Amino acid sequence: MSRIAYVNGRYLPHGRAGVHIEDRGFQFADAVYEVCEVKDGLLVDEGRHLQRLTRSLSEIRMAEPRHPAALGAILREVVRRNRVRNGIVYLQVTRGVAPRNHPFPNPEVAPGLIVTARSINPAEGRERARTGIAVITTPDNRWERVDIKSVGLLPNVLAKQKAREAGAFGAWFIDENDYITEGSSTNAWIVTGEGVLVTRPADHSILRGVTRMVVLETAEDLGMTVEERRFTLAEVRSGREAFITASSTLVMPVVKVDGETLGDGLPGPVATQLRSVFHDHADYGRNWASLTK
Ligand code: PDD
Repeated sequence: MSRIAYVNGRYLPHGRAGVHIEDRGFQFADAVYEVCEVKDGLLVDEGRHLQRLTRSLSEIRMAEPRHPAALGAILREVVRRNRVRNGIVYLQVTRGVAPRNHPFPNPEVAPGLIVTARSINPAEGRERARTGIAVITTPDNRWERVDIKSVGLLPNVLAKQKAREAGAFGAWFIDENDYITEGSSTNAWIVTGEGVLVTRPADHSILRGVTRMVVLETAEDLGMTVEERRFTLAEVRSGREAFITASSTLVMPVVKVDGETLGDGLPGPVATQLRSVFHDHADYGRNWASLTK
């Protein structure tokens, strides 16, 4: 079956879908994006992803290209046309096409809007979660507004590549004070020696992950002790568990950091439990309209 992409109002064969060479997303990374999980053909936490998109757009002083309900309809149509049962849907909004010049186009131009979707075999994630993953650490050399989900991801790409070359699945960024910020495309968590679940507060130094928010709520519902505070690599090493969260990985146990095995090297019970109940707590199967009624 051929893949279909949505590009600026049209549904096109994926291989022939393109944007203009002077699209500001392409020229300046002047664009923001979202990635939403698709499970059983339904979007997971669509409402929260679209709310975060609205915030990212407002932080870069861009108008919404469509009402969030209309964006939700396009996301679902791309998922449907690509017959994705399980996988991800990707949306990018750019400041549009204009002759290459740094200031915003004046007068304003129409924003660019693209949506793609792809299938991912859920067995892959299940198998990875069964064994746990390795991560490396690397200095956080990103700009100070990574709470904006910008497509300017070069440091994230380089960090991920460094991880892959070290035989690890992902990278964790470390700030100048030796605290973990987040993963290169995930949020980072630990369970301390005392059994406290810890993740960094969602200020400007990390992306406010949708999965992170759902996991925080889930942990509280389950009666776990949760602290939103910074943590160091030393705490990761002395802790009981570590894991990452993202729409693309869900809750994924970490069993090795910088080549050093954590604890007994097996996924821990907290991460495993949070992963298994995650979809019971996510807004799964409802759409934006029903969430905002
Ligand atoms: N990444 N931190 C960063 C830097 C991210 O890029 C992501 C998501 C997350 C987790 O956010 P969420 O739980 O809302 O997916 C945290 C997506 C999946 C990506 O870039 O592919």
